[in-house]
Amino acid sequence: MAGSVGVAFLVAAGLFVGAPGSDAIAQAKGPAPLDLGPDAAAVPWKRYAGWPDRDMARFNTLAKLASPPPPKEPRKISGPIDGDAENGAKLVADRNRGGSCLACHVMGPAGGADLPGNVGPDLSEIGNAGREDEWLFNYVLDARVYNAETVMPPWGSHGLFNDDEIRDIVAFLKTLKSPAVYKTELDDPMKRAAPVEKRENLDPIENPGMWAVDRGEELFKKAGGSGAACSTCHTDAKTAFKTWAASMPKWEPRLNKVLGIEEFITRHARTTTGARMTMETDDNRSMAVYLRFIANGAPIQIDTSAEAKAAIERGKALSSRKVGQLNFACTDCHGISANHWIRGQWLGELKGQTDHFPTWRTSLQAIWDIRQRFQWCQVNIRADELPPDAKEYGDLELYLTSQSEGLKLSVPGIRH
Ligand code: HEC
Ligand code: HEC
Ligand code: HEC
Repeated sequence: MAGSVGVAFLVAAGLFVGAPGSDAIAQAKGPAPLDLGPDAAAVPWKRYAGWPDRDMARFNTLAKLASPPPPKEPRKISGPIDGDAENGAKLVADRNRGGSCLACHVMGPAGGADLPGNVGPDLSEIGNAGREDEWLFNYVLDARVYNAETVMPPWGSHGLFNDDEIRDIVAFLKTLKSPAVYKTELDDPMKRAAPVEKRENLDPIENPGMWAVDRGEELFKKAGGSGAACSTCHTDAKTAFKTWAASMPKWEPRLNKVLGIEEFITRHARTTTGARMTMETDDNRSMAVYLRFIANGAPIQIDTSAEAKAAIERGKALSSRKVGQLNFACTDCHGISANHWIRGQWLGELKGQTDHFPTWRTSLQAIWDIRQRFQWCQVNIRADELPPDAKEYGDLELYLTSQSEGLKLSVPGIRH
């Protein structure tokens, strides 16, 4: 483990353990010691229990391109499509087929949807629009033949619906001839009010995630395997790290990638205190919350090195890479479709999303760090996630953070 020799030496020399002025070591202001081993997360990475257990290896991820190419031209359809409209009505509402069509479209009274979304046009009267059957069939099969930039998933080409099912869906679409009738006003995505987070995230009574601040502070004082605690070298974290967390993530030349705060903690602890604070464990998250909490109110600063700028460009490109069976890019939901409803979920912009991470999630009674959020925004769209320490996530995190430059940290956040 790189670096541990140095610590052993420092400990042996009595340079910091209990010695007065031990802060001098930390104040030496060399680069922070880091374990430079290959991994900061569990190896092999195992998806969270309870998350969908699907192998999506045949589709793009943020690390590799694998998805089949779009068709070059529309499929020729001879004669009118005569499918089972009733089955079609079921299929468009089936959440197990990639979230259903109602995630993005209002589909008339027959759609029977609770909380339909409005990312796509209201199709309640598509049956009157004079669309050719061939058009409808191909739009569902793979809309990219008509619109290369579409956010609509390629249902047919990516194997979510077979040809017969698409015929049934088309038959259903042709029956849609009258405006939607909503059961309640809430079901109308044009009238549904955007959620506003009113809870005080720094109030321990309102935000259960505040426990992690106390836990982090405890861990800071707890000796690890080397006999040293964080506090052995950093006697006054609140002063020493008053703004530090607001400068993360940053380019780390020794690892040749962007280093986020969670990975820093894993690697720095390994070589200093010897504590195991593997990424996406409770100890790691607590320490990340604590270090960010200390820097609350500090404006987010972006690494301006040439390497960081290149990483931001890579992150930006990754944010618009189509991944997974549903073929979504981050920007499909948080860019083009931001400030719309996808089913009952409001889509926020990518801007201003990192200032409150790690964040408490009320619906899950858990703290999520940003890398776990990235992972869920992949698995949920049927893409394989990457391990939390993947360099692609570093690029993406730095890009997202650059969209929040100047905003003040407010951690732990609280979200649905
Ligand atoms: C992620 C959101 C999304 C989902 C899910 C989705 N669509 Fe769409 N759909 C769109 C958008 C946006 C458009 C507008 C045109 C475009 O961007 O290609 C569209 C356009 C269409 C059109 C063309 C409308 C026209 O005027 O000719 C049809 C037909 C359609 N969708 C059917 C479906 C069906 C059927 C499903 C489910 C199998 C579905 N859509 C699921 C977003 C979505
Ligand atoms: C053996 C002494 C030692 C121990 C133990 C130690 N650190 Fe450090 N730490 C350093 C040194 C040396 C630096 C680099 C100089 C500086 O930035 O203060 C550093 C830097 C840091 C920085 C600033 C990093 C940067 O990029 O500027 C943070 C944050 C930090 N340590 C947190 C911790 C935490 C959390 C722990 C416990 C898991 C810990 N340290 C344990 C020696 C130590
Ligand atoms: C199919 C749509 C979809 C895609 C694609 C998607 N997300 Fe999300 N994302 C959501 C939804 C829904 C939420 C939860 C609602 C919200 O807070 O906006 C969310 C939440 C988030 C949040 C947390 C927002 C907060 O305030 O806590 C971040 C950060 C995020 N997404 C980043 C990404 C990134 C990065 C990608 C690409 C790797 C991505 N998302 C892809 C739908 C999507």
